[in-house]
Amino acid sequence: MAAAASSPAAIMGFLLLAALTLFSTANSQNPQTSSFTYNGFRQANLIVDNQSKILPDGLLQLTNYTQLVTGHAFHHQPFIFDPNSSVPSESLSFSTTFVFAMVPESANTGGHGIAFTISPTTDFSQAVASQHLGLFNTTNMGNASNHVVAVELDAMRSPEFQDIDDNHVGLDLNTLISAASAPVSYVSDSDGVNRTLRLLSADRMQIWIQYDDGQKRMNITVAPFLTPKPRRPLISTPVDLSTYLVESMYVGFSSSTSTVTSAQYILGWSFSKTGGEEPPPLDLRTLPISPRPAKQAKKLGTAPTVVLIILAISLAGIAMGAYLIRLRRYRELTEDWEREYNTQRLCYKDLYRATHGFKEKEVLGSGGFGKVYRGILPKSKLEVAVKRISHDSRQGMKEFVAEIVSMGRLRHRNLVHLLGYCRRKGELLLVYDYMPNGSLDKFLFTEDKPILNWSERYKILRGVASGLLYLHEEWEQVVLHRDIKASNVLLDADLNGRLGDFGLARLYDHGTNPQTTHVVGTVGYLAPELSRLGKATTATDVYAFGVFMLEVACGKRPIDTQALPEEMILVDWVIDCWKRGAIWEAGDPKLQGEYVREEMAAVLKLGLYCSHNMPAFRPSMRQVMQYLDGDCNLPDVPLESSGIGAFAMGGRETSEFVMSSSFPSSVVGKDYTTVTSLSSTDSVLNDGR
Ligand SMILES: *[C@@H]1O[C@H](CO)[C@@H](O)[C@H](O)[C@H]1NC(C)=O
Ligand SMILES: *[C@@H]1O[C@H](CO)[C@@H](O)[C@H](O)[C@H]1NC(C)=O
Ligand SMILES: *[C@@H]1O[C@H](CO)[C@@H](O)[C@H](O)[C@H]1NC(C)=O
Ligand SMILES: *[C@@H]1O[C@H](CO)[C@@H](O)[C@H](O)[C@H]1NC(C)=O
Ligand SMILES: *[C@@H]1O[C@H](CO)[C@@H](O)[C@H](O)[C@H]1NC(C)=O
Ligand SMILES: *[C@@H]1O[C@H](CO)[C@@H](O)[C@H](O)[C@H]1NC(C)=O
Ligand SMILES: *[C@@H]1O[C@H](CO)[C@@H](O)[C@H](O)[C@H]1NC(C)=O
Repeated sequence: MAAAASSPAAIMGFLLLAALTLFSTANSQNPQTSSFTYNGFRQANLIVDNQSKILPDGLLQLTNYTQLVTGHAFHHQPFIFDPNSSVPSESLSFSTTFVFAMVPESANTGGHGIAFTISPTTDFSQAVASQHLGLFNTTNMGNASNHVVAVELDAMRSPEFQDIDDNHVGLDLNTLISAASAPVSYVSDSDGVNRTLRLLSADRMQIWIQYDDGQKRMNITVAPFLTPKPRRPLISTPVDLSTYLVESMYVGFSSSTSTVTSAQYILGWSFSKTGGEEPPPLDLRTLPISPRPAKQAKKLGTAPTVVLIILAISLAGIAMGAYLIRLRRYRELTEDWEREYNTQRLCYKDLYRATHGFKEKEVLGSGGFGKVYRGILPKSKLEVAVKRISHDSRQGMKEFVAEIVSMGRLRHRNLVHLLGYCRRKGELLLVYDYMPNGSLDKFLFTEDKPILNWSERYKILRGVASGLLYLHEEWEQVVLHRDIKASNVLLDADLNGRLGDFGLARLYDHGTNPQTTHVVGTVGYLAPELSRLGKATTATDVYAFGVFMLEVACGKRPIDTQALPEEMILVDWVIDCWKRGAIWEAGDPKLQGEYVREEMAAVLKLGLYCSHNMPAFRPSMRQVMQYLDGDCNLPDVPLESSGIGAFAMGGRETSEFVMSSSFPSSVVGKDYTTVTSLSSTDSVLNDGR
């Protein structure tokens, strides 16, 4: 038998203990009440005074357009601010964020302001309106017994309080002479530009106020509505609040109007004393919406003013139209997953300006993927090439952008660097280093460029080989180029060859079914197994590089459709020369024999060796580099080796596949186009999965 049950005194004691336990739990600071979040105030438990009210849609209206009034709203319970407490939620640290809007009665004049307030009392009946913001009156302003800490959003300049301007944020400690203040502005994380916000714009804005008692520092950050909290605070000021705060403090808002007025609203508010650095996030989409400014000029009726009004309306219409066009013109497409690529993402407006609105005269060239424009970035004055690719599907974009961005990290002096990208509806823009000398094919095949001599050509071949070796073997992952050709090799100011467009062929891959592979590349550079199996490998890149070597050495296109009586296939032709025992005769006649025969022969043989029919016989790019550097001798490739010269030695069906079955009309005249074996690019980007 339990002793407690037997004695009435023990029962009394037990009950008392139970009551005490209950009482003390109810009274202790429960962690759940050390923070709150109001997404709209419909259900909020606030102490509001006469001017302030919660509107039916959940807006907290601090003041309306009544002149010279104050309005207050406080969370119904005080919080504990105790510097000696070991409980983190009772320390002096706190964080809060709220969304507000000040809707002026008449455009550009309104007032007076809103102050986030921490105060030992909710009774501000003695406080006055106007510049005192409903916080103080002339007698108690500055008195240390106020214990008021406030952050003011002040839309009027009061010289007597040393206000810096009529649009500022300030930290007020017992007085309206701010301890720290700054014009309302924010530094955008995406472009680092400091932008001013107008309090009286009626626009919604969000503010974050954070105080860390350990650091003894207060941070205040402002941003337009829906903009994530900028990293850089507007005000970051050292301050010790321990002399201002007392143990029990209410948190809330004070506001006032002047002889000019604004309707002042709070849309959502969260507050935390849990010790975490960030206040609880607001669900911005569910907040009530603040009204837009009231319409003007109702009472005016005389004829001239009517004319004026019509004029003003039409002007506004034009301005609005222009604004909409502008908005449309610069509109970009951004999705959540792109946030991590912020640093590589460029702003469309900048690209638009850089290229003078993508003017025809800035076009550097156009290829299978789209046009390339020259431009000068407005801020950095950097000369760039902007490639504009149209794409109709969003699917597969994420993987593609991820890959493109990762290729932005490729660094090699024989690669054209990718500086960044931008995305719009139906369009992808890639920004590259500008190459002043343009593409190599212009030098090889047009009259208006100077003829490259043999040593320049050799340097270009060596450079491109080294760039390709980097892609294949020296970077953290294997990158296939998949479209090596003279028009994808660009020349920098010193005539170094640089490979461009690497990985771009992948655009056609993403989102397609791996079972139905698509051949991507250019006619004449496609390895036979690529046409058959559709699988790109480093060996298919080597094949294309081999054809490219022949192209550079011979100054002829891989397939010359203008040669009569039938089209000439470069590989066959080089082999013919070789059979005659004078392979160097295949060298570009424009060089007028100004080359070392042995070197020319070696390059041509290496080219043939690379474009061997059987992938297994082709050298790796590392071996190609060794041959070009003369570090090792070319193996003796026997002329009769059945694999050399796909077109000559029974490989004819391959060329027929290329020439007739897939692309009857695309290989015309001097143009040889980038191709895929797909019927349309629309289907290319459509996700089969
Ligand atoms: C507002 O409330 C205070 C007391 O809380 C009172 O003195 C004052 O007259 C009220 N003002 C209006 C306009 O109702
Ligand atoms: C402002 O609010 C007060 C109190 O709710 C009300 O009496 C007054 O008519 C309102 N004034 C205007 C201009 O809406
Ligand atoms: C904290 O401790 C100091 C010194 O021990 C004391 O002066 C002060 O009143 C205490 N503060 C509170 C809020 O209890
Ligand atoms: C100012 O406010 C204080 C209390 O906050 C009050 O005691 C005092 O009388 C007020 N003074 C005036 C001039 O209203
Ligand atoms: C500050 O306020 C207290 C109480 O309201 C008062 O006793 C004191 O005289 C005031 N001090 C000054 C400098 O006005
Ligand atoms: C205030 O901002 C500074 C600088 O951004 C930062 O180092 C500090 O941790 C912030 N403090 C608080 C309390 O947020
Ligand atoms: C923006 O610039 C103004 C001065 O022009 C400065 O006072 C303000 O602090 C800056 N804003 C931020 C967020 O740094």
